Formats: sequence, C-alpha cells, structure tokens
Amino acid sequence: MAETEASATHRLAAVRAEIAAHNRRYYEEDAPVISDREYDRLYRELLDLEARFPKLVTPDSPSRRVGGKAAKAFSPVTHRTPMLSLDNTYSEEEVGAFYRRIEKLLPNEKVPVVIEPKVDGVAISLLYENGRLRHAATRGDGTVGEDVTQNIRTIRSVPERLKGDVPSLLEVRGEVFMTKAGFAKLNAERAEAGLPVFANPRNSAAGSLKQLDPVITAQRPLGVIFYATGAVKGVELTHHSKLFALLKKLGLPCSETWWEADSLAGILKAIHELEQVRHGFVYETDGAVVKVDDFAQRESLGTTAKSPRWAMAFKYEADRVETKLLDILIQVGRTGVLTPVAALVPVFVSGSTVARATLHNQEEIERKDLRIGDTVVLEKAGEVIPAIVSARADLRDGSEKKFRMPANCPVCGSEVVKDEGQVAVRCVNAQCPAQLKRRIEHYASRGAMDIEGLGEAMVEQLVTRNLVHDVSGIYRLTSEDLLGLERMGEKSVAKLIDAIERSKAQPLWRLLFGIGILHVGVSAARALADHFANLNEMMAASPEELQRIPDVGEVVGTSIAQFFAEPSNRSMIEKLRAAGLRLTSEPKAPVAGNSQIKGTTWVITGTLSRPREEIVEEIVRQGGKVSGSVSKKTSYVLAGEEAGSKLEKARKLGLKIISEENFRELIAR
Ligand code: IVH
Repeated sequence: MAETEASATHRLAAVRAEIAAHNRRYYEEDAPVISDREYDRLYRELLDLEARFPKLVTPDSPSRRVGGKAAKAFSPVTHRTPMLSLDNTYSEEEVGAFYRRIEKLLPNEKVPVVIEPKVDGVAISLLYENGRLRHAATRGDGTVGEDVTQNIRTIRSVPERLKGDVPSLLEVRGEVFMTKAGFAKLNAERAEAGLPVFANPRNSAAGSLKQLDPVITAQRPLGVIFYATGAVKGVELTHHSKLFALLKKLGLPCSETWWEADSLAGILKAIHELEQVRHGFVYETDGAVVKVDDFAQRESLGTTAKSPRWAMAFKYEADRVETKLLDILIQVGRTGVLTPVAALVPVFVSGSTVARATLHNQEEIERKDLRIGDTVVLEKAGEVIPAIVSARADLRDGSEKKFRMPANCPVCGSEVVKDEGQVAVRCVNAQCPAQLKRRIEHYASRGAMDIEGLGEAMVEQLVTRNLVHDVSGIYRLTSEDLLGLERMGEKSVAKLIDAIERSKAQPLWRLLFGIGILHVGVSAARALADHFANLNEMMAASPEELQRIPDVGEVVGTSIAQFFAEPSNRSMIEKLRAAGLRLTSEPKAPVAGNSQIKGTTWVITGTLSRPREEIVEEIVRQGGKVSGSVSKKTSYVLAGEEAGSKLEKARKLGLKIISEENFRELIAR
C-alpha cells in the first residue's frame, strides 16, 4: 500500500494505466482479460488512493470518466417506466433479513414469492405497440437507454409481432445472452482466426449488441429471456407467477424453471435446487432472483431510489479452488509478446480440469504477489476462464520463489524490449522459432489461408526440423520431407500436400490477413484487397495513400508500410509469388447502377415488409453500411410504415429519405 505521496504518485500512474488498458479491452475490444471482481478491486484501489491523496486527482483519471466510446453511436431512448436494478447479496442471512422485513411491512398477510434464475447477460427493454416491435433499448442509466433495435431484430427468438390477444402496449424486460455453447464456438473460431477472444458470454453478448453493424450481431448466437414488464396497457396482470404463461402465449421466451414459496425455508430450498440445475441451462446464470408474487403487495412495499423493496438477487459464489503453482512458463506469441502462464497441479473447477492459467504480465504477478511454489486460489470467472485470484501467503514455508520476466527470449535467446507506455515485453527477433511457429499457425488457420492438417503439432515439427523458415517455405515442402514426420503416412501426406496446393487459390485478402502484418485484421485486409488491383500496387503505396483507405487509418497504414519496407518480408512475398500464389484482387463485382449504394451509410426505420436482416444484407453486399442512428453522415434513410423519431430527425437534417419501393428499384438497377 502506498504511504508517501511519492509512492502514491507512482502507484497511481500504474493503476490508472492498467485500468485504462482494461477499459479499452472491455469497451472497445470486448475482450477483457480480468474478472469483474478483479477489476473492481483495482478500481477501488484507485478510488482509495485518490481519496487519501486528493491533490493527485487528475481530470483524465479513469475515476472521472465512465464507460467506453462505442455507446455514443446509438440514439437515446427514454424508458416508459424506469429500469430498476436489484439489491444483491451473497449471504443467506441477508435473504432471511429481506423476507422478514417484507413480512413486517405486510403484517398478517401471507407473502408468496417466486424464485427464478438470474440470467447473466445484458438487460434490455422492448416496446410492443399493438403487438408490433417498436424499439429495443439497453438499460443505460435506468431512465434513458440506447436504441439497439436493429441489433435486437437480428435475434431469432425476438418476435417482430406478438401472437394471439395482444395488449395495446407492452414494455417487456429481459436479458440478452449468448449461449454457453455458442460462446465456446465463437471463441474457438476467433482464436483460430488470430482474433482476441471474449472473456465470458456476458461480455460477448454486450459486445455483440453494441456492434454498429447489425450484420455482425446477426452472426452471433444470441438469445433472450424475458422476466418482467414495464408499462402495460390492455391486459390485466396481477401476479408474477401468471407472467410466464402470458409471455409464452404472446411468443416471448421466458424461463421454464421457477419456484413458488411462502416461507424462508422454501425460498432457501429453491435457491439450493436452482444452484444444482443451473449448470445445465443453455445460458449462464449467476444467481437466483426472489420476487414478491402479488403485484398489489409489491405496490404497498414500494421501491427505493434504485431498486424495489419487493425483490432481491441472491448471487452464487464463483467456484473457487486451491491448487499449487508449480512454475511460471513463458509463451511467445506471433508478434513476439512474452506472456507468463501459470503451470498448476491440475484441479477440477466448474466442470473441467485446469492445469494452466494466463498471468498476463509482470505487473499482474507483482500485484497479486504470486510466487512459484505458492498455494494459489483459482476462480473460474463466469464459469469459463480460469484465473488466479490470490496466493495463500499464510501457507508459505520460505521455499517459494519470486518470478521475474526474463531479460532474453526463452526460445531464441534474443534480448527482449518493453515498448514505451506498454506493459507487454516483446522478443524483437523476427526469426525467433516461437514467433515463426505462431505465424505459420496463423497463416494456415481457418480464418486465414485455411490449410487443413497444418495445425500446432505439425507446425512444431516443421519448424524444429528446419523444414520451413517463413510462411513461403510450406510451398516448397515435398512428400519426402513430410513422410519422415510423426503420424504421417502416405495418405495424410497426400492430403496435406493437396491442402497446401489448394490454398494458392485463396483470395488476396486472406493472404494479407495471413501474413500477419501487425494491426491488419480481417476488415482491414478486405479493404486493402478491395482498394488495390494487386499486391505490387499495395507494396508501392505510400503510407499517406494507405491511410486514406477506409478501415485502414493511421496506425494500420504505418504498420503496413513498415512491413513492406523490411527486405525479409519482400523476399517472402517474392517466394510466394514464385510458388504460384494469387497476388491479385478478384475482379470486383459489377457495380454499374449500384455505385449509388457503394460507400453509402443507411439508417432503416419503421415497419418493413420483410425481415430487416435481409435488407441489411443487401445493402452491405452492394458495398453500403447500415447504422443505428441518424446523423449528418447518413446518406439514405429507408423509411417503412409508421416510421417515428428517426424519420423526423432525417427530415430536419434534410437527408435523402426513400420508401421501400424506391429501395427495391435502386437495388435492382
Ligand atoms: S428483475 C425491478 N429478474 O439483474 C427488478 N432481473 O442485478 C427488475 N436480471 O438489472 C429486474 N435475471 O438486468 C430480474 N430473472 C431476473 C433477472 C434479472 C437477470 C438482471 C437485470 C437486473 C440485474 C440486477
């Protein structure tokens, strides 16, 4: 703990930098690397330091700013009734205190309650008018949320129209989630494509909802569970236990599993039963919600400023186990970043055995004061990613060893460097075998050149036996080279040679992504392949020209120019060319009449005759973009029936507004 102003200044700088980095990962990249609890601890340390040394508070401290940037792109929606939050507890005693308080406030009355799963997702409020979906909004500050209608419409289980006897107005609240299986699949695909992985299903659901491009949201395995109503007209609802049947009749998904109780013993029994069955649900849950059933009783209990007195959330502890930290290993990534990884005595936690956990960087290890040989506490944050929370200092016998990042790369022995202002340490030797392995794995991965059979184990053998020295080397491999390798019979050799051969016909953008230029992801690679007719043109382009390409920008543009300035990279490209790879762009799709759509930004509003995703896809296919909110940058507003505030705004801004019919004509041209 920092005691003097000097040490506080030092620690504050470190904590702020760390929080800023985590904020960026959470809000902008949707890829947090620490659990919420750990983040809270760090944030609390910041608040505590600033409280003790007020002179050191700066206007740009993370404590003075909230949230991320992405939020700005969505227009505000005022909820008809506020979206409250719930009082939380981890203690059964507090559940008891909650129920006794209610009983005292309602003397001589039975107080039946409902116990249901607390879904770990993103709160959402949908407004249906006469059975039609009007809009969908996030919780925001509880009073005003963000319009995410376009993205919500891409979720298949959200009906555009309600079924049966529809109420004239229904504000319905629920939770958007990503299924556990869908999350695992998405992360596996992202990892293979060399993209950062999501920390847990909740973060990936939140990230998916915040996509400016609904096409991306549509590709994510999202679902929704409804559990409450806001403003309602045209239907009478008196008990929460009747809500489930009503929602089901209207076609709105809700929990199939819930309990009724009218005693503390009954409540606790339900909480325990839910704890057992919840691991079998397709979505993640982090607790149980206890709600008074009778709406009249809710009325008399009332609410506090933030949460109702008639409900409470009981949260289950994240599963924690203790194990031994055997060693701290160093992993060298594709770009040379050295990551410390904990080697553990394998333990079983939340459904799987864990033997490794990332420790991120030296600062993280120091902050937790982890030493090799320690007994450590391991937690599965959000049921998925294992993280070491702390060490049991009380169990030390003096033999434990402190860890220091090596001054040299453990694989190639080159010196490592720490870039200015970054926590990461990098091996700068481009020929480092560890980097080479990761680069080839990335090149061959499904998201890049998609070479089946060229996975981790094969690449390991090729590099250790000096058979390849850069990605172009795989095109010089012969059957003789491969036949000598482990588990490689004639059949598998022929298959691999064939897969390598076929990869030569992959489109240019896959190659650009595959060769691993720093900062060049799939979308930049596509933009580059669209812009240049061939790789030669691109290699000859100045950084300024590169930076002007949409989706490229300054950082990426500079990085590309640097990559091609490097003689070894140029020679690799020449070898790829000699091997017969396609280094030219595909002829662009004829855009004759649709030059009118290419490069334009669209906002879609109102009710349309067909699913919105279809329209979005058409626009995107023809080179346009779809945004959720109207601004001066909007090129066209496609207005369906009964379009509301967006249409109004478009008129005010004097934007081009077109009907569905005109749209069809435009697309058909
Ligand atoms: S009821 C006025 N029921 O938990 C009470 N909330 O920590 C409104 N949540 O903001 C909420 N599952 O986003 C309710 N079955 C459930 C829930 C649930 C998840 C979320 C909701 C709320 C948060 C409070």
